Amino acid sequence: MTFSKEWEAQFAAGSHFSQYPWSDLVALVMRHANPKKYDHKVKVLELGPGVGANIPFFLDKGFEYHAIEGSETAVKYMKHKFGDNIEVIAGDFTSLIPYEENTFDLIIDRGAITCNRMYGVKKAIEKSASILKSGGMYIGIDWYSTIHPFSKYGVEVEPNTRIDIPIGTFKNTGTVHFFTEDELRSLFYKDFYIMYLEHKTYSTIIPDRESGWASYNIVAKRRK
Ligand SMILES: C[S@@+](CC[C@H](N)C(=O)[O-])C[C@H]1O[C@@H](n2cnc3c(N)ncnc32)[C@H](O)[C@@H]1O
Repeated sequence: MTFSKEWEAQFAAGSHFSQYPWSDLVALVMRHANPKKYDHKVKVLELGPGVGANIPFFLDKGFEYHAIEGSETAVKYMKHKFGDNIEVIAGDFTSLIPYEENTFDLIIDRGAITCNRMYGVKKAIEKSASILKSGGMYIGIDWYSTIHPFSKYGVEVEPNTRIDIPIGTFKNTGTVHFFTEDELRSLFYKDFYIMYLEHKTYSTIIPDRESGWASYNIVAKRRK
């Protein structure tokens, strides 16, 4: 179990309430798992949806939506907002993914897997491979990279995994793992083909030149 309890405190305090679908996620899902390509209702599982910013997009496109989220507050919020249109389970996706093999067409996460220690990341990807249908897709958005300007802050608890990062969106959120390209390739090597991998960076100029961003987006297809 590598869920950081700090997330519950953040949501309980009304923070991190992202409400609108993330544009990279929308673009990559429409390019690689467009529901028009399927002859059945597409089953998607989201790992760590927060308060469900991506849910309106999936419902609008006719997906059957499922999620596992560690924060009880976030789960309550989503159940109240989306009711019976979704199934969401409260739990830690590094230890509990209570689905049978070959269940999902698509598994996604946006900035969620990257909030765990490597042990948990590996478990979540292994489990995802087993519950995806053959040829199913994993789409991971915003997995932080070692190039991120804040990747040297906080306390390193294992290679490239940090806690207590005192600044930016990482403040009071617990664990963050910063990936290398080699780590990503080896994580998906056994059970997936990597169809697409991008590294996204930007630097700010105003109000300061110290902040910025670096993360990976990955699209991987379950081997048959
Ligand atoms: C950066 S937030 C992203 C939220 C949402 N995906 C979004 O993009 O708006 C990370 C989310 O992942 C959840 N999370 C991280 N690790 C988790 C784990 N091991 N099990 C369940 N949820 C987890 C956190 O509770 C939080 O909701």
